[in-house]
Amino acid sequence: MNKYSKGIILAGGNGTRLYPLTSVLSKQLMPVYDKPMIYYPLSTLMLAGIKDITIITTPRDNEAFKNLLGNGDEWGITLHYKIQKSPGGLAQAFLIAEEFIHESPVALILGDNLFAGTDLTRILEKSKNNNKGATIFAYTVKDPERYGVINFDKQKKIIDIVEKPKEFVSPYAITGIYFFDETVTKKAKTIKPSKRGELEITDLIKLYLKEGNLNVEIFGRGMTWLDTGTFDSLHDASSFIKTIENRQSLKIGCPEEISWRKGWINDSQLRDLSIKYIKSGYGEYLSKLIEAF
Ligand code: TTP
Repeated sequence: MNKYSKGIILAGGNGTRLYPLTSVLSKQLMPVYDKPMIYYPLSTLMLAGIKDITIITTPRDNEAFKNLLGNGDEWGITLHYKIQKSPGGLAQAFLIAEEFIHESPVALILGDNLFAGTDLTRILEKSKNNNKGATIFAYTVKDPERYGVINFDKQKKIIDIVEKPKEFVSPYAITGIYFFDETVTKKAKTIKPSKRGELEITDLIKLYLKEGNLNVEIFGRGMTWLDTGTFDSLHDASSFIKTIENRQSLKIGCPEEISWRKGWINDSQLRDLSIKYIKSGYGEYLSKLIEAF
């Protein structure tokens, strides 16, 4: 087993900004163009070479995720499921998944975050392989006040991390993918809920910063990071995926393809998977992969 063989997808939350869309169905099951939202973060972990994954959901949606994704066998990976009773914050993931983590390093990705870009696999693998402490990823945004923000000095050394700053600190938002070492659960247990009653990931990250064990990778222009929590961002994400996929005739966030390219499933397994969806463009795409590449 390599160091970061485990990952968590945090796919709970109330999705209140998408009501009424999410009144009866999880945000992370909403379509982003041609696939359910959760396919994208799942694909990102798979691209990083992570095959043992726990999906954390609300009590209401747990069954739906299991129906959609199963135990991962078909895709050559292992999927586990856990329930978050109510949205107690991102850092709660490490308490909920304590048994699964079992003193291993672990990657966390938010279920509504979508990453795409030329260097994504290389950057993630690099962070996965040489990590000591924690690694977070920064991305410049127009509206940093909505995110946890990194304050850098001129040498790009981190001075501080500020959660949803009221006044401008920097344009560098912390994205929704993180790598933490094996001390993460122990650290998460020491965090107290914030004023809004959540275990904040920023507080966890700050513990690593205090220890001098926090690494930051900056995603450049070649990278796309979208979160999909509002009507407009959800629509934008769909348009983005549609534009790129139709232009390139290659899919973004297709777990079957990633698994096949990584050699976790063979041609005949991919063919079987394609038959399941043969009437949609998705199945057709899978069936053509074997001949085209
Ligand atoms: P948010 O977008 O901050 O919250 P939300 O999904 O509940 O949406 P809204 O603000 O519209 O009510 O959450 C970011 C991601 O993290 C999303 O994938 C849901 C997930 N999440 C949890 O799974 N548990 C939590 O306790 C929190 C705070 C978020």
